Amino acid sequence: MENKKVIIIGSSRINGNTNRIATEIATRYNFDVINLSDYSFSYYDYESNNLTDDFFPLIKNIIEKYNTLIFATPVYWYSMSGIMKVFFDRFSDLIRIEKETGRKLRGKNMGVISNSHDSTIDDVFYIPFRKSAAYLGMNFIGNQHFNADQKVPLEHLNFQH
Ligand SMILES: Cc1cc2nc3c(=O)[nH]c(=O)nc-3n(C[C@H](O)[C@H](O)[C@H](O)COP(=O)(O)O)c2cc1C
Repeated sequence: MENKKVIIIGSSRINGNTNRIATEIATRYNFDVINLSDYSFSYYDYESNNLTDDFFPLIKNIIEKYNTLIFATPVYWYSMSGIMKVFFDRFSDLIRIEKETGRKLRGKNMGVISNSHDSTIDDVFYIPFRKSAAYLGMNFIGNQHFNADQKVPLEHLNFQH
């Protein structure tokens, strides 16, 4: 597999700031884009009553096609967006049920793009991503915060491209 990259958008607005910033970056660097809002998946369920929703087909498709996953989230209450957190919670299904699929995440790359109306963000914001990457055996390749009110500095991406 060539190192195809995808930006995975998790926002409460289909055409909001996260989508705009991610799309500009994807266009400039020829990354694919997946918007989690286009899929229907529910909170992690210990009873596994939601295994037929869109999560498994979606994650399998991502794993099959891409070696680098760049998560794009707005800052909502000092954290990642709710939809992005639900997506991460569902990774538990990959550890408990679809283990073979989960193991395929090992060795892949993870990056994060965040945005808010500030130009800076505390580095702690990225800890859940960094630690999840480590837990899943993924390489954390970097994070970058964007001010949603400023032009996207396309020539200055922090992570490998
Ligand atoms: C529910 C909610 C919570 C937010 N919490 C924060 C916050 O804690 N810190 C911050 O700087 N901005 C916060 N914002 C502002 C967003 O980070 C900012 O508007 C962002 O660009 C929105 O991206 P979107 O259009 O993709 O939703 C919040 C916005 C919403 C809707």
